[in-house]
Amino acid sequence: MTDAASQPAAIRPRVFSGVQPTGNLHLGNYLGAITRFVSLQEAHECLYCVVDLHAITVPQNPEDLRSSIRDVTAAFLAAGIDAKRHIVFNQSRVAEHAELAWVLNCVARLGWLNRMTQFKEKAGKDRENASVGLYAYPALMAADILVYRAAFVPVGEDQKQHLELARDIAQKFNNDFAAEIEARGQGEAFFPLPEPLIQGPATRVMSLRDGTKKMSKSDPSDNSRINLVDDAETIAQKIRRAKTDPDALPSEIEGLAGRPEADNLVGIYAALSGEAKQEVLRQFGGGQFSGFKGALVDLAVAKLGPIGTEIRALRADPGHIDRVLADGAERARAIARPTMDAVKDIVGLLR
Ligand code: AMP
Ligand code: TRP
Repeated sequence: MTDAASQPAAIRPRVFSGVQPTGNLHLGNYLGAITRFVSLQEAHECLYCVVDLHAITVPQNPEDLRSSIRDVTAAFLAAGIDAKRHIVFNQSRVAEHAELAWVLNCVARLGWLNRMTQFKEKAGKDRENASVGLYAYPALMAADILVYRAAFVPVGEDQKQHLELARDIAQKFNNDFAAEIEARGQGEAFFPLPEPLIQGPATRVMSLRDGTKKMSKSDPSDNSRINLVDDAETIAQKIRRAKTDPDALPSEIEGLAGRPEADNLVGIYAALSGEAKQEVLRQFGGGQFSGFKGALVDLAVAKLGPIGTEIRALRADPGHIDRVLADGAERARAIARPTMDAVKDIVGLLR
């Protein structure tokens, strides 16, 4: 067989993605990112990173941070990421991320970072009081990807602008140092421009309480999201209480326009069942929400229940999680170090 999965890792295209260890992982993280991580394993060489340095751009309680790092790792493993064939690690263990980020801070322009909408949202009104790290966050994210010279980056819709910035930074580095890159026999482009993979029916899962807001770890209402650790009863309650409108479900996609809550629940059903939204509407169109919600509860519990159970089991063995992370970091560093050494040479830093 010559399928991609049977090729040696070195010639399979490289994938990198990161998830922040802040609060509970939810259905949006799962459908927008983690399920994609799982399916990419077949034909790619994957690095999945718990981005703890990104988490500390806003204040964190150290004890909670430690347990969140382990929890995200547990969720990766419970969802089906294979930490032996691929690499699972936490960002701060591989110092090359922060090292390259500094160089990229000096490549990125203030004007580029000023345009980042996530900074504006997260900094809120009191921008003067935001950390410098929160502002520089996208340059660290670019370093995460570029230090492995990854080809593909699976993320949810909200990360699109950061990925575009990573490409701009890579391009500017390649241009600024073109002569040195060429002279050192590194070809024309030292950093490949990473491609975002923003695909699937659930790149933007919305809050269960308000179909115009994205499902988020930081929403004060726990009823707005389904957490991966929620038990069956909690999942059922949250879905039954999810906001809807008084009309029946439409039979055609067009009928979802202007009905954000209906659109969101149909999208979630489609993503969990692996069907197109149109197919979901073919089954439930014309019916009331109560019947549809019952089916959605069954589906969500069937898909998420076993993952929650596995996460809880892994939580009981933090030593195992810590060994996975330490081993992953060692293998990640073996890829990152040569890139960083080459960057130092290209820029003119002695080592
Ligand atoms: P974060 O928890 O912000 O580190 O996000 C981890 C991953 O989940 C990123 O790829 C995000 O784009 C994705 N993600 C977060 N929230 C959602 C959402 N509501 N819908 C879809 N994807 C999401
Ligand atoms: N910024 C991403 C988020 O909040 C997390 C992240 C950090 C990331 N570094 C990354 C995602 C590199 C993809 C690639 O979701």
